[in-house]
Amino acid sequence: MFELYLDTTNTVQLERFNKALPLKGITTNPTIIAKSGLGLKENLSHCVKILGPTARFHVQTISNTYEDIIKEAEQLNTLPYDIVVKIPATEIGLTAINHLKTTPIKVLATAIYSVQQGFLAALAGADYLAPYVNRIDAMGTNGIAVVADIQQLIDQHQLNSILLPASFKNTQQVMEILKLGVGAITLAPEVAEQLFTHPAVQPAVNQFENDWKTVFGNKLSYES
Ligand code: E4P
Repeated sequence: MFELYLDTTNTVQLERFNKALPLKGITTNPTIIAKSGLGLKENLSHCVKILGPTARFHVQTISNTYEDIIKEAEQLNTLPYDIVVKIPATEIGLTAINHLKTTPIKVLATAIYSVQQGFLAALAGADYLAPYVNRIDAMGTNGIAVVADIQQLIDQHQLNSILLPASFKNTQQVMEILKLGVGAITLAPEVAEQLFTHPAVQPAVNQFENDWKTVFGNKLSYES
């Protein structure tokens, strides 16, 4: 089942988009949490009230040694939520992922900028992989091609990782990624908003309303 996430802890945005979109949960990173001005636990307690008890939360570790990443992941996993621990796919991060996948802790390998990094994280057993589509594009490489190659390697080697591409800046990137058959994506609220927006939609709706009112005034469909 496809999983859709919002890349934010902003409660106003979550309230808004949770009504229109079948959100599986949210993804966060240290920048998102720091910008919110609240600690992780306060953020999560606000978000779960909006998204409900089955929401999944992707939360990134801050530690940068193997031992500390493991400890932090174990602590995050004790929080009373469905937590996926995000770990940057560095050499130390991959070592930690290898270990954590001998435990029931769910892991997302994040900060993926290359095909090889994604493939190694999948081999390490990461449950999810987060390649950064727009950040890759911004470096002059092709983010969509990187995701396509990782998906192909996952399929070819029958690995279990779910691709959860992140870092989108426009709907074209989102649609190209969805066509690759990835299992999940995360969208910033600004990009989620763009998915609803097309310059022709509102004029079409307005025209229907005008045509209706010209003949039936303020009657509703079932009253006519
Ligand atoms: C998700 O895992 C990333 O933290 C995030 O989506 C990066 O997005 P950005 O490039 O818009 O900061």
